[in-house]
Amino acid sequence: MQTVNSVAELRTVLRDWRKHGETIAFVPTMGNLHAGHLRLVEEGRKAATRVVVSIFVNPTQFGPGEDFAAYPRTPAEDAEKLRAAQADLLFLPAPAELYPAGLEGLSYVDVPGLSEELCGRFRPGHFRGVATVVCKLFNLVQPDVALFGEKDYQQLAVIRRMVADLNMSLDVVGVPTVREESGLALSSRNGYLSEEEKHRAASLYRCLQAAGEFLRRGRRDYAAIETEQARALESVGFLPDYFAIRRVPDLGLPDTDEQAWVVLAAAKLGKTRLIDNLQVRI
Ligand code: PAF
Repeated sequence: MQTVNSVAELRTVLRDWRKHGETIAFVPTMGNLHAGHLRLVEEGRKAATRVVVSIFVNPTQFGPGEDFAAYPRTPAEDAEKLRAAQADLLFLPAPAELYPAGLEGLSYVDVPGLSEELCGRFRPGHFRGVATVVCKLFNLVQPDVALFGEKDYQQLAVIRRMVADLNMSLDVVGVPTVREESGLALSSRNGYLSEEEKHRAASLYRCLQAAGEFLRRGRRDYAAIETEQARALESVGFLPDYFAIRRVPDLGLPDTDEQAWVVLAAAKLGKTRLIDNLQVRI
């Protein structure tokens, strides 16, 4: 696996690959890689002849008071894992490579509506930062396919909408969430949890499953289910931002005759904000 730090080097490698008819799968990440990321690489290897992974802790998607400075940065371990997973190229740019003119007066990509819902209500500007950096990375890598974890369901929906609205020519593939045996979704932020919190954190998935079971059994009183499960989260020490039942795939408010939903939750446990979701079909 090759590692490149500059846009110029990235372009040189990609130009050569394209000349030789290679197809490119792209996995954008913020590093501190876990089995969920490696699963994206594995799927990428099936989807194209070359897999490019980027690691960039993107400042524009963190709000004031969020964990940008503390976000775990483990480039050497990440490169080792990517080598073992047989990724072909790691793009590891410094901020000045991606934001050469700084952040002042930066042009942004905004996906209105979707970006202000759910997590967007609690993290204003977050999805604008995500859409902007992902658009820039797509412009640089020009992948045939890009892979994202379904754990960040709203992020995936925002990116799909951006790709459709801006006529970008690539497939966006969502890859199912990888979980610990307890059900806890793998996340780079799980490292902030104490052992005791980690144990309690598994309740997040259990509450999503409980809501899913109610939907499968025919309950359609969505608001009541949301309130019940938010209370259940509180009872084990979570501070929920939201617990929401939405329509698949656009995250609209569901009707009573819906056949597919996604149940989403975001909640703080101690200092750690966790998100998760569960897709339910009948
Ligand atoms: O999901 C992430 O790790 C980030 O939001 C992404 C897509 C790499 C953009 O910075």
